Amino acid sequence: MSIGTANRIRKAVVPAAGQGTRLYPLTKVQPKEMMPVGPYPAIDWVIQELAAAEITEILVITGPGKSAIEAHLDPQEGRLARADLPLWLTEFDSSRITIYFTRQNPPGGLGEAVACARQFVGDEDFVVALGDSVIISEQAAFTRRLLDAHQTSPAVATLGVQPIPPEKASSYGVIEVAEEAEGRLVISNVVEKPEPDQAPSKLAICGRYVFSPEIFAKLNDLQAGRGRELQLTDAIAALATSDRLVQAIPLAPEELRLDVGNLVSYSQAFVRGMLSHPAIAPSFREYLLRLAVHLQDSSQPDPDRTTTDPA
Ligand code: G1P
Repeated sequence: MSIGTANRIRKAVVPAAGQGTRLYPLTKVQPKEMMPVGPYPAIDWVIQELAAAEITEILVITGPGKSAIEAHLDPQEGRLARADLPLWLTEFDSSRITIYFTRQNPPGGLGEAVACARQFVGDEDFVVALGDSVIISEQAAFTRRLLDAHQTSPAVATLGVQPIPPEKASSYGVIEVAEEAEGRLVISNVVEKPEPDQAPSKLAICGRYVFSPEIFAKLNDLQAGRGRELQLTDAIAALATSDRLVQAIPLAPEELRLDVGNLVSYSQAFVRGMLSHPAIAPSFREYLLRLAVHLQDSSQPDPDRTTTDPA
Protein backbone atom coordinates (compact mmCIF):
# COMPACT_ATOMS: atom_id res chain seq x y z
CA MET A 1 0.00 0.00 0.00
CA SER A 2 1.55 3.35 -0.89
CA ILE A 3 1.03 6.43 1.23
CA GLY A 4 -0.14 9.57 -0.51
CA THR A 5 0.92 12.91 0.96
CA ALA A 6 -2.74 13.65 1.72
CA ASN A 7 -2.81 10.71 4.17
CA ARG A 8 0.62 11.20 5.66
CA ILE A 9 0.56 11.38 9.45
CA ARG A 10 1.80 14.80 10.48
CA LYS A 11 0.60 15.33 14.05
CA ALA A 12 2.06 14.12 17.33
CA VAL A 13 1.04 14.43 20.96
CA VAL A 14 3.72 14.46 23.68
CA PRO A 15 2.30 13.84 27.17
CA ALA A 16 4.56 15.59 29.69
CA ALA A 17 2.29 16.38 32.64
CA GLY A 18 3.40 13.62 35.05
CA GLN A 19 4.86 14.86 38.33
CA GLY A 20 7.99 12.69 38.32
CA THR A 21 7.67 11.91 42.03
CA ARG A 22 9.99 8.91 41.70
CA LEU A 23 12.80 11.35 40.89
CA TYR A 24 12.18 13.74 43.82
CA PRO A 25 13.87 15.96 44.85
CA LEU A 26 15.42 16.33 41.36
CA THR A 27 12.00 16.98 39.85
CA LYS A 28 10.45 19.11 42.60
CA VAL A 29 10.93 22.21 40.48
CA GLN A 30 12.43 20.87 37.24
CA PRO A 31 10.19 18.80 34.92
CA LYS A 32 11.51 15.27 34.41
CA GLU A 33 11.30 15.89 30.66
CA MET A 34 14.00 18.55 31.13
CA MET A 35 16.41 16.14 32.86
CA PRO A 36 19.63 15.81 30.87
CA VAL A 37 20.00 12.62 28.85
CA GLY A 38 23.64 13.08 27.94
CA PRO A 39 24.02 16.47 26.30
CA TYR A 40 20.32 17.26 25.74
CA PRO A 41 17.16 17.36 27.83
CA ALA A 42 14.95 14.28 27.38
CA ILE A 43 12.29 16.29 25.53
CA ASP A 44 14.79 17.25 22.80
CA TRP A 45 15.44 13.59 22.00
CA VAL A 46 11.70 13.00 21.65
CA ILE A 47 11.24 15.98 19.35
CA GLN A 48 14.19 14.93 17.23
CA GLU A 49 12.61 11.50 16.78
CA LEU A 50 9.32 13.08 15.73
CA ALA A 51 11.09 15.42 13.32
CA ALA A 52 12.84 12.40 11.77
CA ALA A 53 9.40 10.89 11.22
CA GLU A 54 8.38 14.06 9.31
CA ILE A 55 5.89 15.13 11.95
CA THR A 56 5.12 18.80 11.44
CA GLU A 57 2.75 19.64 14.32
CA ILE A 58 3.39 18.68 17.93
CA LEU A 59 1.13 19.23 20.93
CA VAL A 60 2.96 19.00 24.26
CA ILE A 61 0.62 18.27 27.18
CA THR A 62 2.12 19.97 30.22
CA GLY A 63 0.88 20.37 33.78
CA PRO A 64 1.66 22.13 37.05
CA GLY A 65 5.33 22.99 37.46
CA LYS A 66 6.13 22.28 33.82
CA SER A 67 6.63 25.78 32.48
CA ALA A 68 10.35 25.10 31.93
CA ILE A 69 9.39 22.88 28.99
CA GLU A 70 7.57 25.76 27.32
CA ALA A 71 10.43 28.12 28.13
CA HIS A 72 12.91 25.62 26.66
CA LEU A 73 11.00 25.00 23.45
CA ASP A 74 9.54 28.45 23.13
CA PRO A 75 10.55 31.76 24.62
CA GLN A 76 6.92 32.89 24.57
CA GLU A 77 4.81 31.62 27.44
CA GLY A 78 1.25 30.51 26.91
CA ARG A 79 -1.11 28.11 25.23
CA LEU A 80 -0.75 27.38 21.55
CA ALA A 81 2.50 29.29 21.30
CA ARG A 82 4.86 28.61 18.43
CA ALA A 83 8.32 27.32 19.22
CA ASP A 84 11.61 27.28 17.40
CA LEU A 85 13.48 24.04 17.55
CA PRO A 86 16.69 23.78 19.50
CA LEU A 87 19.71 24.64 17.41
CA TRP A 88 21.11 21.14 17.38
CA LEU A 89 18.21 20.00 15.21
CA THR A 90 19.69 21.80 12.24
CA GLU A 91 19.68 18.70 10.06
CA PHE A 92 15.88 18.93 9.99
CA ASP A 93 13.86 21.67 8.35
CA SER A 94 12.79 23.24 11.64
CA SER A 95 10.64 25.83 9.89
CA ARG A 96 8.25 22.99 9.03
CA ILE A 97 7.57 22.09 12.68
CA THR A 98 5.18 23.95 14.95
CA ILE A 99 4.98 23.13 18.65
CA TYR A 100 1.85 23.85 20.68
CA PHE A 101 1.24 23.52 24.41
CA THR A 102 -1.79 22.77 26.49
CA ARG A 103 -2.20 21.90 30.17
CA GLN A 104 -3.66 18.92 31.96
CA ASN A 105 -4.31 20.30 35.40
CA PRO A 106 -4.35 18.38 37.68
CA PRO A 107 -2.81 15.39 35.86
CA GLY A 108 -5.17 12.38 36.03
CA GLY A 109 -3.48 9.66 34.02
CA LEU A 110 -2.08 9.10 30.54
CA GLY A 111 -5.54 8.39 29.10
CA GLU A 112 -6.79 11.75 30.27
CA ALA A 113 -3.65 13.46 28.90
CA VAL A 114 -4.19 12.04 25.41
CA ALA A 115 -7.90 12.95 25.58
CA CYS A 116 -6.77 16.61 25.90
CA ALA A 117 -5.53 16.35 22.29
CA ARG A 118 -8.90 15.56 20.67
CA GLN A 119 -9.40 19.02 19.15
CA PHE A 120 -5.77 19.27 18.00
CA VAL A 121 -5.94 15.86 16.30
CA GLY A 122 -9.29 16.31 14.54
CA ASP A 123 -9.99 13.39 12.19
CA GLU A 124 -6.36 12.46 11.42
CA ASP A 125 -4.28 9.52 12.58
CA PHE A 126 -1.58 10.69 14.98
CA VAL A 127 1.47 9.71 17.03
CA VAL A 128 1.77 9.69 20.82
CA ALA A 129 5.37 9.89 22.11
CA LEU A 130 5.88 10.01 25.88
CA GLY A 131 8.07 12.94 26.89
CA ASP A 132 9.98 10.90 29.50
CA SER A 133 10.85 7.99 27.16
CA VAL A 134 13.91 8.36 25.00
CA ILE A 135 14.68 5.98 22.16
CA ILE A 136 18.21 5.97 20.85
CA SER A 137 18.23 4.53 17.38
CA GLU A 138 20.20 5.10 14.20
CA GLN A 139 18.83 8.23 12.49
CA ALA A 140 16.14 8.49 15.24
CA ALA A 141 14.19 6.05 13.08
CA PHE A 142 11.85 4.15 15.40
CA THR A 143 8.76 6.36 15.12
CA ARG A 144 9.30 6.49 11.35
CA ARG A 145 9.09 2.68 11.25
CA LEU A 146 6.00 2.69 13.46
CA LEU A 147 4.30 5.17 11.14
CA ASP A 148 5.18 3.17 8.04
CA ALA A 149 3.78 -0.01 9.60
CA HIS A 150 0.61 1.81 10.63
CA GLN A 151 0.02 3.46 7.29
CA THR A 152 0.50 0.28 5.31
CA SER A 153 -2.07 -1.68 7.33
CA PRO A 154 -5.71 -1.27 8.37
CA ALA A 155 -4.68 -1.00 12.05
CA VAL A 156 -6.44 1.51 14.31
CA ALA A 157 -3.50 1.45 16.71
CA THR A 158 0.18 0.54 16.26
CA LEU A 159 2.26 0.30 19.43
CA GLY A 160 6.02 0.28 19.88
CA VAL A 161 7.03 -2.57 22.18
CA GLN A 162 10.21 -3.83 23.83
CA PRO A 163 11.16 -7.11 25.50
CA ILE A 164 11.29 -6.88 29.30
CA PRO A 165 12.41 -9.27 32.02
CA PRO A 166 9.27 -10.80 33.62
CA GLU A 167 9.88 -9.12 37.01
CA LYS A 168 9.57 -5.66 35.35
CA ALA A 169 6.02 -6.31 34.06
CA SER A 170 4.44 -4.24 36.85
CA SER A 171 6.15 -1.09 35.50
CA TYR A 172 4.63 -1.27 32.01
CA GLY A 173 1.62 -1.87 29.81
CA VAL A 174 2.08 -5.47 28.64
CA ILE A 175 0.62 -6.83 25.39
CA GLU A 176 -1.09 -10.15 24.68
CA VAL A 177 -0.15 -11.42 21.22
CA ALA A 178 -2.69 -13.25 19.04
CA GLU A 179 -0.41 -13.90 16.08
CA GLU A 180 2.73 -12.74 14.34
CA ALA A 181 2.84 -11.86 10.66
CA GLU A 182 5.62 -10.19 8.66
CA GLY A 183 7.34 -8.61 11.66
CA ARG A 184 4.06 -7.25 13.08
CA LEU A 185 2.39 -8.64 16.16
CA VAL A 186 -1.40 -8.70 16.21
CA ILE A 187 -2.55 -7.75 19.71
CA SER A 188 -5.57 -9.34 21.37
CA ASN A 189 -5.33 -7.42 24.66
CA VAL A 190 -3.12 -5.10 26.75
CA VAL A 191 -2.85 -4.98 30.52
CA GLU A 192 -1.53 -1.99 32.48
CA LYS A 193 1.20 -2.87 34.99
CA PRO A 194 0.27 -6.51 35.67
CA GLU A 195 1.86 -8.51 38.45
CA PRO A 196 4.63 -10.63 36.89
CA ASP A 197 2.61 -13.86 37.22
CA GLN A 198 -0.37 -12.22 35.47
CA ALA A 199 1.60 -10.72 32.56
CA PRO A 200 0.27 -11.94 29.19
CA SER A 201 3.73 -11.74 27.53
CA LYS A 202 7.23 -10.35 27.97
CA LEU A 203 6.59 -7.45 25.58
CA ALA A 204 5.94 -4.01 27.05
CA ILE A 205 4.63 -0.81 25.49
CA CYS A 206 7.69 1.43 25.11
CA GLY A 207 6.07 4.87 25.04
CA ARG A 208 5.42 5.22 21.29
CA TYR A 209 1.97 4.79 19.72
CA VAL A 210 0.14 5.59 16.49
CA PHE A 211 -3.63 5.91 16.73
CA SER A 212 -6.63 6.52 14.56
CA PRO A 213 -9.04 9.06 16.11
CA GLU A 214 -11.18 6.05 17.12
CA ILE A 215 -9.13 6.01 20.31
CA PHE A 216 -10.99 9.13 21.52
CA ALA A 217 -14.32 7.28 21.73
CA LYS A 218 -12.64 4.65 23.92
CA LEU A 219 -10.96 7.34 26.03
CA ASN A 220 -14.33 8.96 26.50
CA ASP A 221 -15.78 5.75 27.95
CA LEU A 222 -12.85 5.08 30.30
CA GLN A 223 -13.35 4.25 33.96
CA ALA A 224 -10.53 4.85 36.44
CA GLY A 225 -8.05 1.98 36.16
CA ARG A 226 -4.68 1.14 37.65
CA GLY A 227 -3.64 3.74 40.27
CA ARG A 228 -7.19 5.17 40.09
CA GLU A 229 -6.14 7.04 36.93
CA LEU A 230 -7.58 7.03 33.40
CA GLN A 231 -5.20 4.66 31.63
CA LEU A 232 -4.42 4.89 27.91
CA THR A 233 -3.72 1.15 28.01
CA ASP A 234 -7.35 0.47 28.98
CA ALA A 235 -8.60 2.43 25.94
CA ILE A 236 -6.24 0.40 23.72
CA ALA A 237 -7.55 -2.81 25.32
CA ALA A 238 -11.08 -1.68 24.46
CA LEU A 239 -10.05 -1.33 20.79
CA ALA A 240 -8.20 -4.67 20.74
CA THR A 241 -11.06 -6.60 22.30
CA SER A 242 -13.67 -5.08 19.97
CA ASP A 243 -12.27 -6.73 16.83
CA ARG A 244 -10.36 -3.69 15.62
CA LEU A 245 -6.82 -4.37 14.41
CA VAL A 246 -4.26 -3.31 17.02
CA GLN A 247 -0.68 -4.24 16.20
CA ALA A 248 2.77 -3.89 17.72
CA ILE A 249 6.21 -3.28 16.24
CA PRO A 250 9.17 -4.31 18.40
CA LEU A 251 12.27 -2.20 18.88
CA ALA A 252 15.15 -3.51 16.78
CA PRO A 253 17.90 -5.22 18.82
CA GLU A 254 20.25 -2.26 18.29
CA GLU A 255 17.65 0.29 19.43
CA LEU A 256 17.67 1.39 23.06
CA ARG A 257 14.70 2.64 25.01
CA LEU A 258 15.58 4.71 28.06
CA ASP A 259 13.25 5.84 30.79
CA VAL A 260 13.54 9.05 32.76
CA GLY A 261 11.31 7.43 35.39
CA ASN A 262 13.31 6.53 38.46
CA LEU A 263 16.86 7.22 39.62
CA VAL A 264 18.35 3.99 38.33
CA SER A 265 16.73 4.09 34.88
CA TYR A 266 17.48 7.82 34.66
CA SER A 267 21.18 7.27 35.45
CA GLN A 268 21.36 4.65 32.70
CA ALA A 269 19.67 7.05 30.29
CA PHE A 270 22.19 9.77 31.09
CA VAL A 271 25.17 7.49 30.53
CA ARG A 272 23.74 6.15 27.26
CA GLY A 273 22.99 9.68 26.09
CA MET A 274 26.60 10.67 26.69
CA LEU A 275 27.83 7.59 24.84
CA SER A 276 25.75 8.48 21.79
CA HIS A 277 27.34 11.91 21.41
CA PRO A 278 30.08 11.69 18.78
CA ALA A 279 32.31 14.37 20.30
CA ILE A 280 31.98 13.35 23.97
CA ALA A 281 31.68 9.57 23.66
CA PRO A 282 35.37 8.61 23.16
CA SER A 283 36.70 10.23 26.35
CA PHE A 284 33.59 9.38 28.41
CA ARG A 285 33.78 5.74 27.30
CA GLU A 286 37.41 5.58 28.30
CA TYR A 287 36.53 7.02 31.72
CA LEU A 288 33.77 4.40 32.18
CA LEU A 289 36.12 1.58 31.23
CA ARG A 290 38.72 2.75 33.74
CA LEU A 291 36.05 3.15 36.41
CA ALA A 292 34.72 -0.37 35.71
CA VAL A 293 38.20 -1.82 36.14
CA HIS A 294 38.57 0.02 39.45
CA LEU A 295 35.12 -1.05 40.67
CA GLN A 296 35.95 -4.67 39.94
CA ASP A 297 39.36 -4.48 41.58
CA SER A 298 39.94 -1.60 44.00
CA SER A 299 43.72 -2.03 43.75
CA GLN A 300 43.47 -0.67 40.21
CA PRO A 301 43.66 3.15 39.79
CA ASP A 302 40.51 5.15 40.55
CA PRO A 303 40.03 7.46 37.54
CA ASP A 304 38.68 10.24 39.82
CA ARG A 305 41.67 10.24 42.14
CA THR A 306 44.99 11.65 41.13
CA THR A 307 47.73 10.05 43.17
CA THR A 308 50.96 11.95 43.46
CA ASP A 309 54.10 10.01 43.75
CA PRO A 310 55.83 11.31 46.93
CA ALA A 311 59.23 10.54 45.40
C1 G1P B 1 3.24 4.53 30.84
C2 G1P B 1 2.14 3.62 30.29
C3 G1P B 1 2.63 2.19 30.16
C4 G1P B 1 3.90 2.16 29.31
C5 G1P B 1 4.95 3.10 29.93
C6 G1P B 1 6.18 3.21 29.05
O1 G1P B 1 3.48 4.19 32.19
O2 G1P B 1 1.00 3.71 31.14
O3 G1P B 1 1.64 1.40 29.57
O4 G1P B 1 4.41 0.84 29.22
O5 G1P B 1 4.41 4.42 30.08
O6 G1P B 1 7.09 4.09 29.63
P1 G1P B 1 4.32 5.15 33.19
O7 G1P B 1 5.77 4.87 32.93
O8 G1P B 1 3.95 6.56 32.84
O9 G1P B 1 3.90 4.77 34.57
